[in-house]
Amino acid sequence: MPCQLLKCDPATISFGARDTPEISSDATRDALNIASHNLITLRRPVVFPTETVYGLGALALDSSAASLIFSTKGRPADNPLIVHVSSMSMLHSILPPDYTFPPSYQVLMKHFWPGPLTMLFPRHAAIVPDIITAGQDTVAIRMPSHPVARALIAVANAPLAAPSANSSGKPSPTRAEHVYRDLGDKVDVILDGGPCGVGLESTVVDGLNADGHLRVLRPGGVTVEDLERTLREELQASGSVPRVLVHRRDYRDEAMEAAPTTPGMKYKHYSPSVPVILVNTLSNPSEPKQRQTIDSLVASLQARYPARPIHAGLMTPDDSRLAQVLHTHESISWRLFPLGKVSEPAVIAQRLFDGFLTLDREGVDAILIEGVAEEEEGLAVMNRVRKAAGETVWVSL
Ligand code: TXA
Ligand code: MG
Repeated sequence: MPCQLLKCDPATISFGARDTPEISSDATRDALNIASHNLITLRRPVVFPTETVYGLGALALDSSAASLIFSTKGRPADNPLIVHVSSMSMLHSILPPDYTFPPSYQVLMKHFWPGPLTMLFPRHAAIVPDIITAGQDTVAIRMPSHPVARALIAVANAPLAAPSANSSGKPSPTRAEHVYRDLGDKVDVILDGGPCGVGLESTVVDGLNADGHLRVLRPGGVTVEDLERTLREELQASGSVPRVLVHRRDYRDEAMEAAPTTPGMKYKHYSPSVPVILVNTLSNPSEPKQRQTIDSLVASLQARYPARPIHAGLMTPDDSRLAQVLHTHESISWRLFPLGKVSEPAVIAQRLFDGFLTLDREGVDAILIEGVAEEEEGLAVMNRVRKAAGETVWVSL
């Protein structure tokens, strides 16, 4: 069956006090009903927009429906999935009946749900199938804020497991056309809700440790600074403010790193099919003493493709000096993909995967991407850029 690409207008969906969507557009309501029919009756996965990236969703509580997610993406079975819920009552319906939230989770749910924050919860083994958690005793859950995502879950009236809607290893899609190009011959329905506002996947946190601290397993749409500020403001009076620990920056966990379950640890991630070179212009404590000159960087690019003019993608902030200097090297034909201002890391995050996917499709020989400061959304940006880059260079301008 050919893939149906169905427009859904998020502006025509609203949520009342009872978590039931009100949908004022007939076309959007029809599209949601078709998607829900595919999920519930046909037990087939569908693609839907979230505020982070597009997701490939299937019934989370049905092993055989969820297994189609893995075959469609070519995803290894030991990489667990995030379960998406549309309401607190749906959340409670999949948690162990006697479970009480740690104080940090109550604060985080109040502030960041619905939204781009995924939290680990104890798995209720009688309800959440093994295939979702890759056999672990925790399950990752989030409540998305995108009206189309939340409405679809509510209309289907079932939690949906959904990874990013890309072939495993590729950058996550932030537009319906990205998904159509990659998985159009493998999925039946893509709901097109326009470009994703956040553009990077959700932040994945684990607050289940006995020490009460919050461990960030994957930086993402909610920044570490936002988590810290919110926990401090809300829990200061209680006398115990949990710390926010970023994996690999503030702590290491060898057992976890050996297990395949940690976001982006074991598997290649986010890579376009052309080589990506991370170009650092900022000073960083771990950088090598020697920096290349721009001339030597350009010369090394030319040496790789001696027979022809090079067509190189260049992803830099709009106000980048690197881009200005590289543009004076006319021996290379530059295809600039501006990322937004340095002072607006959220915009850089929103444009990152679109840039990778757009330049890849245009057939550039290589993509150069400039490193940004690892603050606010920049932390998640650099987490994804490092995974995409096969090579890192340090240059002096
Ligand atoms: O923004 C998002 O989170 C998107 C949208 C579609 O919601 N989804 C997404 O899913 O990024 P995926 O599968 O591409 O990434 C989920 C990550 C995986 O890397 C997985 O390792 C981690 O979450 N994860 C899932 N369950 C886990 C668990 N129980 N413990 C630790 N990590 C877990
Ligand atoms: Mg993914």
